[in-house]
Amino acid sequence: MDAQKLLSSMCVSCPTHHEPVHRELTSSSGLVAGLVILPSLVRTSFAIDRPIHSSIVVLAVCGACIIGLDRTRALKDTKSHRHRYGPIPLEDANDRLTSGNGSIHGEEGVGKQSPLSSLRRLRLVFLILVGALCTRVEVLHQVVRGVQCTRGSYYPFLPFLLAVYDFAIVRRHRQGQKPDEEQDATSFQAIFARLSRHRYMLVFSTLLLGLCSSLELSATAPLSSTYVCASTLPAFSLVPVYQLLGLFLDALILILVFHILDLSSDSQQSNVNAHRIIGWALLLPAVIWTAVGAVICFANPDDRRWILYPERIYLWGLFNLTLAICVTVLFALSVASRSRLVSFSFLVIFTLTGLAALTSDWGQHVQVLGFSDKLKFVFVTTVFVAGILYAVVEMSAENRSRSSTRNTSGVPGWFLYSIAGLLIFRVLFGKPYLGQPSSHPIDILIGRAHSQHDLWKKQASSSKSLSDAVAVYRQRYHRNPPPHFDIWYDYATSRSSIVIDDYDNIHNDLLPYWSLSPAEIRQRTWEIIANPWSDAGGVHVRAGSLEISANMPGTHRWMVDGVTHIMENFVEWLPDMDLAFNLNDEARVTVPFEVLEPLKEASSRTALSEKLGVAGFSQERSPGWALIPEQPITDSRFQQRSFQRTFHEFGAVGCPPSSRARKERLWNVKDLCTTCAAPHSLGHFLSNWTLSASVCHQPDLADLHGVNLSPAAYKGSHELMPMFSQSKPAGYNDILYPSAWNYMDKVKYAPSPEFPDPPFSEKENTLFWRGATSEGVSPGSGAWKGMTRQRLVHLTNNVTTPQLILLPQPRTNKPSYTLLTPTNVAALLNSSVHLVDGIARCGGRDCPDQVKEFGGGAPRSDFQHHWHYRYLVDADGAGFSGRFLPFLQSGSVPFKTALFREWYEGRLTAWRHFVPLDLRLHGLWSTLAYFAGVDGGIIEGRVGKWEAKAKEAEDIAENGRKWANTVLRKEDMEIYFFRLLLEWGRLTDDRRDELGFSV
Ligand SMILES: *[C@@H]1O[C@H](CO)[C@@H](O)[C@H](O)[C@H]1NC(C)=O
Repeated sequence: MDAQKLLSSMCVSCPTHHEPVHRELTSSSGLVAGLVILPSLVRTSFAIDRPIHSSIVVLAVCGACIIGLDRTRALKDTKSHRHRYGPIPLEDANDRLTSGNGSIHGEEGVGKQSPLSSLRRLRLVFLILVGALCTRVEVLHQVVRGVQCTRGSYYPFLPFLLAVYDFAIVRRHRQGQKPDEEQDATSFQAIFARLSRHRYMLVFSTLLLGLCSSLELSATAPLSSTYVCASTLPAFSLVPVYQLLGLFLDALILILVFHILDLSSDSQQSNVNAHRIIGWALLLPAVIWTAVGAVICFANPDDRRWILYPERIYLWGLFNLTLAICVTVLFALSVASRSRLVSFSFLVIFTLTGLAALTSDWGQHVQVLGFSDKLKFVFVTTVFVAGILYAVVEMSAENRSRSSTRNTSGVPGWFLYSIAGLLIFRVLFGKPYLGQPSSHPIDILIGRAHSQHDLWKKQASSSKSLSDAVAVYRQRYHRNPPPHFDIWYDYATSRSSIVIDDYDNIHNDLLPYWSLSPAEIRQRTWEIIANPWSDAGGVHVRAGSLEISANMPGTHRWMVDGVTHIMENFVEWLPDMDLAFNLNDEARVTVPFEVLEPLKEASSRTALSEKLGVAGFSQERSPGWALIPEQPITDSRFQQRSFQRTFHEFGAVGCPPSSRARKERLWNVKDLCTTCAAPHSLGHFLSNWTLSASVCHQPDLADLHGVNLSPAAYKGSHELMPMFSQSKPAGYNDILYPSAWNYMDKVKYAPSPEFPDPPFSEKENTLFWRGATSEGVSPGSGAWKGMTRQRLVHLTNNVTTPQLILLPQPRTNKPSYTLLTPTNVAALLNSSVHLVDGIARCGGRDCPDQVKEFGGGAPRSDFQHHWHYRYLVDADGAGFSGRFLPFLQSGSVPFKTALFREWYEGRLTAWRHFVPLDLRLHGLWSTLAYFAGVDGGIIEGRVGKWEAKAKEAEDIAENGRKWANTVLRKEDMEIYFFRLLLEWGRLTDDRRDELGFSV
């Protein structure tokens, strides 16, 4: 297809008679292609984050394109048929009205009109169109802002609305006209013709389309996420109203656009340049909204930065989206100028809903909603009936308007039939995403965890002597062990550590730092400590003793005190050096993938040499570490991002550029992203804890965790800054060390006679959680709605949407995914999940909003009260959860969900030592149902009965307790830290490539 043809096919003011067939085909194919591409583009576009900005650009560009193309076309036409275009288009708009043929705006019927009234009318139509478009932008804005509260989709009923309009306004005025009878028609055609003349036929067929499309959409719609749509807030009821309003506005806009198109195309001598008018109608709202933006900018300096400086990633998204929308609109306009209003909308909606159904995670709902084969049959036939009815109506319309220059169908019929065919095929043969499992997935996962744990244990402690350990070290990490490795080995074995070989976490954390020279590392450490703004505590190791840097904020003193407390156990063996400890809970360092990968590669290349190392660190190391100046420095390579979204600028940059986390913005937080969870899930359940930590395949996490949404303290860097942190999400480059929090027993497992830890069977069969809203700060932006803790409390107490749960079937008691109302869920499963201490870390309207939704918070309960319950939820706070270790040590089962990972990652096996939960929390009920058991008798026989799996739960509790007391003891923290600092000592040594322990 050459550009010339493409251009002319998009051209919109083309005279419609003698339309070349290929041009028609091009524009309808273009429209179809646009409809195929647009939904998926919009679903993942960064442009939707700023709906008004984006609307302005899209409207302006589309308007300008339409006008521009029209100009080009007009210029060309003037050369060939000079007579066709008059200089003043608007004035003669009434020409076609007086001919009164098939007009859409029938209010005034077919009467004679003065030129003036018709011109006035055109102006009126234009103004209403501009107004409707302006309002539509704001409605879009409101819907996007409250997208978690949207309900279904009303779009399938758009053709119905238009048909009603057509019926009520247009056809009523055609009563007088005699439809052209097809005298010589075959009997088949005659039946069609008679059927189609029935007054209600069009209305009826579009209604049928609406019903079966919305059935189809609801059967294939994604599940609801756990993102909070609070029923106590206005958005809960307002957003659906906005959705409806949007539907009516769209109907109005379509009617008006077709009205304008009709003016130009129905009459042979028309001089109304419809497309230029439409172009201006698009441009004007863009101008109006820009003016509104300018006023807001002027009046509200706080918003100025946000309004004027969009992020680069947004601009790129906007560019793509604008291009796609405008090309589609141009094609659509070209198709629209040849088709009728109702059929145009029918085709567009049919295509969109059909595609949505085709591309959804098909089947998860079809089965859940209990669609039996019979219903499937009904479903398929409705699609057919709607299609046939449509064909009937179209045919009749064609008959009727034979005299008019418009033919009726815009989109090729074969395309519609192939969509219908594919749909039917999928209904009949589609493989469901969440199939009904034959056995319970958790049984499989527990079995798998058993062998996984054994494997891990074997490789972590294979060496039986120091020389073994050295050999294994060289084999695993391609280097000599650091100096004093023998002392470390003695330290570890004398404290009966069973983990001798597996220190992959240390290796992975330090690997990138090998790309920096020792001097550079020392310089950067100095930069961090010398500037108190970095929120870091400095610790100096000199001649086997420790000193804490002077310029340390007092509030975090305990943390660094704790660190030195651990280090004192082995400090005599450490070389002179300075260390920077992160005082914030949030992690700090993410180097973009593009930068980091070459560094890692270079670091691996510098690794081993067959040479044996020189034992002992360099002497005289202390001069290498510059003194911390009295006067703090002010330069910093950290950027302040507290209270801001951090996911795309920091959290995801460690992912490959082609990964979903880098490319997709899943702004529609209402939908559960099943494709994001699928790689690490088995049905509803988390199957791979390691993989679930990676954000790269999970773009939806941008809206599902406090640290991504609005962290309390966030100073991040894209450069390798040697920062020691207690925990970090995967993809960060902080160096993990064992937190002093647990070492210093800030929270402790200590049952007492008052709060005993009873035998498992005597614990209450209930899911228990208490906590504060401290995951992030919600400063008025509504960020709390996505935070894990708030979602957890909402899900267990206030949820309004039906919940999908894996439950026993009524008679067979086989597992089966079932939708239950929240009331029924509450009747089946016990939970006690509440916020304590009121609502903290909020600002603006987010404080009262949360109080409305969650109440003031339950009274504080003693930490040791936890052991009264069987199932304890553990969720991240601003960083890692400090309670997890006590939970493990207890006789209860921890249900852990986390983005943050700690030093011991890998030592615990999910489903053996704890029960993992996806951050989306969508499998929470299913998991609880498995362990706690259900008795469906309570809710009229829709659910069967499962005994509580107390044996399995108790096993996990006991295995967790034993293993925690084996590899997560305080001794294990010391051993890890000791080894880490020996490695760090070597890494910062100028002779690091020669150094190494050898036997
Ligand atoms: C879990 O994911 C990790 C990382 O992708 C992978 O190496 C490992 O093989 C997976 N484990 C299982 C049991 O699939």
